[in-house]
Amino acid sequence: MPSFISKTRPIDRFTPVDEHTSSEAKHRLPLKVRLRRNRKSEWSRRLVRENTLTTDDLIWPLFICEGTKHREPVGSMPGIERISVDEAVREAERAVKLKIPALALFPNTDPKKRDERGSEALREDNLVCRALIAIKKEFPDLGLAADVALDPYTSHGHDGLLYDGVIVNDETVHVLAHQAIVLAQAGADVVAPSDMMDGRVGVIRRALDNKGLTNVQILAYAAKYASAFYGPFRDAVGSNATLKGDKRTYQMDFANGDEALREVALDIEEGADMVMVKPGLPYLDVLWRVREKFGMPTFVYQVSGEYAMIEGAARNGWIDGEKAMMESLYAFKRAGADAILTYFAPRAAEMIARNH
Ligand code: PBG
Repeated sequence: MPSFISKTRPIDRFTPVDEHTSSEAKHRLPLKVRLRRNRKSEWSRRLVRENTLTTDDLIWPLFICEGTKHREPVGSMPGIERISVDEAVREAERAVKLKIPALALFPNTDPKKRDERGSEALREDNLVCRALIAIKKEFPDLGLAADVALDPYTSHGHDGLLYDGVIVNDETVHVLAHQAIVLAQAGADVVAPSDMMDGRVGVIRRALDNKGLTNVQILAYAAKYASAFYGPFRDAVGSNATLKGDKRTYQMDFANGDEALREVALDIEEGADMVMVKPGLPYLDVLWRVREKFGMPTFVYQVSGEYAMIEGAARNGWIDGEKAMMESLYAFKRAGADAILTYFAPRAAEMIARNH
């Protein structure tokens, strides 16, 4: 036996405490590989850590409502508020301070302005456009994304045009292209079609290019599932009360994985700059497959219902909210996400700044 190994001494001073107990010594297994060795202390865990969450990974979704100096809680999303445009500018300042690269804006449109065709979506002075203009003016370097879809504007709560109980595809796509131009002209850096109509990315790309808006990026909600986890979001934008039926004729069936790859492939072919998987945690397999197969900038949306579950449990004292938040965000990084849309963005950024 080489002299540096003694039978009696503990292996080294970093050995887990229970190794020192006599019974542990008695039962010692002749293991060459012990994965626990690298986990024995925080400095070592830091060195071998495979993934890191930084503020560069975060996009912060905000809900905008009418009024000034106005904030109102979203009942099903504890800690989240709908805020007026001036308040959104203040949150934008907070995002800049926290080094969050981008915001995503969603409107709670006045019910009186909602109609069958979602016409408000095409008005240059609608809520989202006013928010885009106000924030861009103060913080030109902050990235701004806006959804392309009609659901916050239609009286029936669907993302597209509804004729005789059917969400029509091609006519909707033309309206969406128009909406994308309106958003881009108001200052959206990124337009994010979340409607799941066929062919919309290509038509939106051409429409933007024809207007000279060639630098506006398209973040395609490429694999977006028909999900019960969107419930609190629909409360926040006010489309739950009026939503007729469900969205299963356009959003994906949650039983399918391969189909997500076909959706993503099409959106890439049509000109998407980034692709997104949504919801997040229940679809980590899809996220992983998309990242592996296409190597595209791949985003994930930790949706409202996921936020509500974590935050609701935390506020009941059932789980440690901050820890569960971080664990869920790291899960996205591990599964290959380049960026995460999350309502936790400012809190996660604060924790990152404190070095967790
Ligand atoms: C609108 C849209 C939805 C979400 C983002 N954009 C809801 C839906 O499709 O019904 C969900 C986001 C969330 O739940 O946080 N098309």
